[in-house]
Amino acid sequence: MSIVNVGALPKTSEGSSLVDKWMVKAHFIAGISFFFLALLAGLVFSTQFLRNYLFPGIEVLSPGRIRMIHTNMAAYGFLANLFFGGLYWAVPRLTGERVWKRSVSIFLFWAWQTILVATFVGQMFGYAQGVEWAETPIFIDPVVVIGVLLMTVNFYVPILRTKEKPLYVSLWYFTAAFVWTGLVYIMGNYLPQFFAPGVAGAAIGGLFIHDLVGLFVTPLGWGMMYYFVPLILKKPIYSHALSLVGFWGLAFFYPLQGVHHFLWSPIPMFVQYGAVTSTIAVEIVVTTVIVNFFMTLKGNGSILKTNIPMRWFYTGMILYFTTCLQCAFQVTLTLQQIIHFTDWVVAHAHLVMLGVFGFWLLGVVTHLWPKVTGREWFSLRLNAWHYWLTAIGTVIMFGDLTIAGLVQGFSWRSLQIWEQSLTASMPFWMVRTFAGTMIVLGQMLWVYNLYRTAKNPKRLGSEVPMLNLEHELAPASMTNPTIAL
Ligand code: HEM
Repeated sequence: MSIVNVGALPKTSEGSSLVDKWMVKAHFIAGISFFFLALLAGLVFSTQFLRNYLFPGIEVLSPGRIRMIHTNMAAYGFLANLFFGGLYWAVPRLTGERVWKRSVSIFLFWAWQTILVATFVGQMFGYAQGVEWAETPIFIDPVVVIGVLLMTVNFYVPILRTKEKPLYVSLWYFTAAFVWTGLVYIMGNYLPQFFAPGVAGAAIGGLFIHDLVGLFVTPLGWGMMYYFVPLILKKPIYSHALSLVGFWGLAFFYPLQGVHHFLWSPIPMFVQYGAVTSTIAVEIVVTTVIVNFFMTLKGNGSILKTNIPMRWFYTGMILYFTTCLQCAFQVTLTLQQIIHFTDWVVAHAHLVMLGVFGFWLLGVVTHLWPKVTGREWFSLRLNAWHYWLTAIGTVIMFGDLTIAGLVQGFSWRSLQIWEQSLTASMPFWMVRTFAGTMIVLGQMLWVYNLYRTAKNPKRLGSEVPMLNLEHELAPASMTNPTIAL
């Protein structure tokens, strides 16, 4: 495997003028604000499990509604906003072209925040749609679809106009994510409610839940990693062949997995077996991607000590591998008998949504914040505190809820009375609230640091010029077919 020598290649500085930093910053600030809302809702909801709910008897703040606010604001407010911010940075620099129109970007920014606020208010006042993960009130769904379409056009224009051919791997993921997201959203929000009731609706609902993670969040997440990791390491990704396996493996196996959310249900068994098989298959694909990234890191591991964004990225990758490995086991019909409906699933959800994609995005913001504000970090130590409090909090929450899930599952299986499983779960739920508080504390320190950095009189030195990805970051094998893979 040969690697292109970055230092010997031409660089341009046009990247800075192509990127609309206001858009990046605006999405980052919005994403972090919704992150706080989601975290607060999670923390409040966790007190329900401690028999000390913070807002008893207040209908608009009832636990069921707060739970929806927690999950919806985490997915669409926190993750989506930060992804958009990352895309406004990465796509113009990868393509050498501006996004379609600034007016469209600004319109979309405000439209997305309005959708989120309307979702938040709608859910508080009881207008949620009764489909899991599609709780966005039904009257907001058409606006989301139009928004996703416009967003797709806004980012497709530079991708179509680019002279950087062949497209770098991040752009494959971004391009696919936009097509998939629109289709997945329409399918999940409309088919189960209006066209496929009952078991068929559940099968589609399972597909929707899983595809939201696999075809919206995952391709955007990996696209970001393929962009930022080689850039920070200043060396190309290890293997183009493995990138291909990862991309096409995801595209082929992910959509087949949805029904694994409803194992042992009345959905026909051949569909369930298909979902189990493709879930295990995707873990093999995931392993190839992880190998690709760790081989890229080989020889530069010490960067993880000094570079906090890289630490976020690689911690997220380890947790990604963990969550996928866990998935390969939990998808078996045997383990399902124990863990279904237990906190094991909640542990898994937090590991993937926060521990993987959340961590990657925290790394992206940490990497880009000085660049978009033009200021030096106020405190690197606070960034380290942010990392450790969040990472340790997340791992505690994951371990704690995983064990809680096993305790609950075995308690139910041995036909103990329900209350006994609740009593046994109480210490675990206390630890969850404690771990959540650690995570919130970490974010508070980070936001303080972000704020002080934005106000820092010390300006950042000259900006790192845009790298020409086709030549500099793509593996040599991609630009020079004669090099063996
Ligand atoms: C302060 C930190 C957090 C706390 C205390 C917390 C707490 C909770 C609680 C109590 C639930 C409901 C579990 C149940 O119904 O049994 C939940 C569900 C969930 N949370 Fe969090 N959470 C936190 C952070 C996050 C973050 C940052 C994300 C995503 C980025 C997230 C994603 C989810 C998801 C996807 C679910 C649904 C799980 C499922 O339905 O299986 N949480 N969380």
